Amino acid sequence: MRLEGAHIAIGAESIITKVALWDRSFVLKTRPSKPYLIPAIDSSLRASRTSRECKGLNVARSLGVPTPAVHAIDLNDYSILMDYIPGTPLKQVASTLGSTTLGNLCYRFGRIIAKLHRGGMVHGDPTTSNLLITSNEKTWIIDFGLSEMNATVEMKGVDLHLIKRALETSHWDMQENMLSRTIEGYVDELGKEAEPVLERMDAIRERGRYH
Ligand SMILES: Nc1ncnc2c1ncn2[C@@H]1O[C@H](COP(=O)(O)OP(=O)(O)O)[C@@H](O)[C@H]1O
Ligand SMILES: [Mg+2]
Repeated sequence: MRLEGAHIAIGAESIITKVALWDRSFVLKTRPSKPYLIPAIDSSLRASRTSRECKGLNVARSLGVPTPAVHAIDLNDYSILMDYIPGTPLKQVASTLGSTTLGNLCYRFGRIIAKLHRGGMVHGDPTTSNLLITSNEKTWIIDFGLSEMNATVEMKGVDLHLIKRALETSHWDMQENMLSRTIEGYVDELGKEAEPVLERMDAIRERGRYH
């Protein structure tokens, strides 16, 4: 898609551009080429992640999870046009928040992940960089390029394991409060269905430790 705007994030995986259209703000997410990959693999990865992202954002939304609405997708240049969310990643604001507010946001994070899991979907990259907090403390989840459908208990366990690992590496001093509130939200949302997934999360951790 040919749209002009300011870059707001440039990562290894994507270029995020804020675009003004019809008096509103949108985000154009484009997946650049990786020159070190064989061209055929490069284009198939870019295409599959772009499609996955679009599908993931829409399915999550249909499950009642706040995600930016997708307005257009262009598989010729691997780009997606979606709503701009006027928020900040939890990763950036976590250390500025009181423990109650931070805990409440994590609780909502847990409920969001649980809603995805109940809908048979895993996020694939559930880090605090991919959770946007708006000024009214609403939580939005983004970055569905690694999401998958028809999720098994193993895949859901991996999703929770990734959360735990992300909290350990990015928020080591607050990880206990953050993790316990996230798990609390997850369990409140899923009830008994949460048990096998939590067990699997622990098993995955053990496997990682002793292999
Ligand atoms: N719809 C959006 N609205 C506002 N900011 C966004 C939006 N999508 C992405 N961003 C910003 O760009 C960053 C990177 O986007 P993300 O989709 O996570 O890409 P990546 O796959 O490179 O991690 C996010 O952490 C967020 O700050
Ligand atoms: Mg991201």
